[in-house]
Amino acid sequence: MYNEKVMDAFKNPKNVGEIENPDGIGTVGNESCGDIMQISLRIENDVITDAKFKTFGCAAAIATSSTATEMIKGMTIEEALKVTNKQVIETLGGLPAQKIHCSVLAEEAIKLAIDNYREKQAK
Ligand code: FES
Repeated sequence: MYNEKVMDAFKNPKNVGEIENPDGIGTVGNESCGDIMQISLRIENDVITDAKFKTFGCAAAIATSSTATEMIKGMTIEEALKVTNKQVIETLGGLPAQKIHCSVLAEEAIKLAIDNYREKQAK
């Protein structure tokens, strides 16, 4: 069902865990399956210097979160907000159609974590 790249990202996920005292954190649930994803970010001068994820999710959710967190490290928050689940899927060489909804978790959690960072900055 999954290609080799996806299987590799699932078996050897990067950035698993939670950043202590994160600058931004976001948690989302997937309505279609009930799975949950949390992304925490370290942000310095609007640049994402570290990103970690925790999920109660399937192989596709783990593979896409690992890839998405790798992609956004080193990006500005503006750049990271433009990263879509489609780009993450392309980087992974594709996902089965019934697993596309899983890839949305990472994109949404990143957006929420950046929102959370901005809220904290505004205080
Ligand atoms: Fe729930 Fe994939 S089935 S995230």
